[in-house]
Amino acid sequence: MVNSVGILGVGTYLPDNIVTNDDLKGKVNTSDDWIRSRTGIRERRIAPKDMLVSDMASEAARIAIKDANILPQDIGMILVATVTPDHSFPSVACMVQESLGIPSGVPAMDISAACSGFIYGIVTAMHFIQVDTHQYILLIGADKFSSIIDWTDRNTSVLFGDGAGAVVLGRVRHNRGILSFDLGADGTGGKHLMADPLVSMNGREVFKFAVRQLPLVTETVLAKCSLTNQDIDLLIPHQANTRIIEAARVRLGLSEEKISVTVDRYGNTSAASIPLSLAAEIEQGKIKDDEIILLVGFGAGLTWGAVCLRWGI
Ligand code: COA
Repeated sequence: MVNSVGILGVGTYLPDNIVTNDDLKGKVNTSDDWIRSRTGIRERRIAPKDMLVSDMASEAARIAIKDANILPQDIGMILVATVTPDHSFPSVACMVQESLGIPSGVPAMDISAACSGFIYGIVTAMHFIQVDTHQYILLIGADKFSSIIDWTDRNTSVLFGDGAGAVVLGRVRHNRGILSFDLGADGTGGKHLMADPLVSMNGREVFKFAVRQLPLVTETVLAKCSLTNQDIDLLIPHQANTRIIEAARVRLGLSEEKISVTVDRYGNTSAASIPLSLAAEIEQGKIKDDEIILLVGFGAGLTWGAVCLRWGI
């Protein structure tokens, strides 16, 4: 039988600098009211110019490794989901390896799937652990959109924030951890959300895609493990916009406390958004052993993905 794979530890890093909607009024023609009513965002964290994505990723990773009660030397593989790497190469994963002192020889690579990157990373890690290649895998979602935003474009500059979230994945007992997964992409929608080198977006197309895809992939991943919407204890969607999250919540028939919302505080942190939300829910004691937790991502590519977990080790 294949190994069951779950989350053994969680860590986050958020820059100290809080930028409110009012702070953005000085840069573009916008208002707190417009941003709140269209996106739900109140504030976001923006990293200093000289802070690298690998710095944020390393901080989150240190906490996750400690939380999992293991040492950096125990990590068997490093995966970093990011679309804002410090350099084209070396990868952020290799930079994290150096910064944490994870031994030479351990494989390290970045995954590029934008806001779905963390989900793509979990599924990748799961397969390596299932075939017993590696016991513990460090997965980090980290992005610094402030470095690729056109700060004169009000369509995009108000939406994003910086941050990093990390998990350690490893074996868990039977009937805990990942029960099912689903990944997908549609390259024909790539033009709707691009960075070349700055971010440009067709907001309405991305909105329509997200509102359609988020409930769809949620129901697909539930069906794959013979569960239904009613079995969900907590849905942690990618945090892009409260209107997208709310539309999915209504479509899936979930009560408000069953869906995680942190976009109001952090903005859209791309690959970091799901682990940041997961950590916030754990901190508030909202996730208990044996509960059914869904992590669902969607974003540029266009890409999407979901994993259904039974929480616990
Ligand atoms: N402040 C004030 N006005 C703004 C603005 C801002 N920050 N950004 C855009 N506007 C204006 C537009 O220019 C437009 O004006 P116009 O009608 O004179 O051209 C008007 O607001 C309405 O724009 P519209 O596109 O209809 O707004 P919307 O209700 O679709 O909301 C988004 C815009 C971007 C919030 C919404 O489309 C969205 O959330 N899309 C998904 C984005 C996303 O999640 N991306 C990441 C996915 S991982």
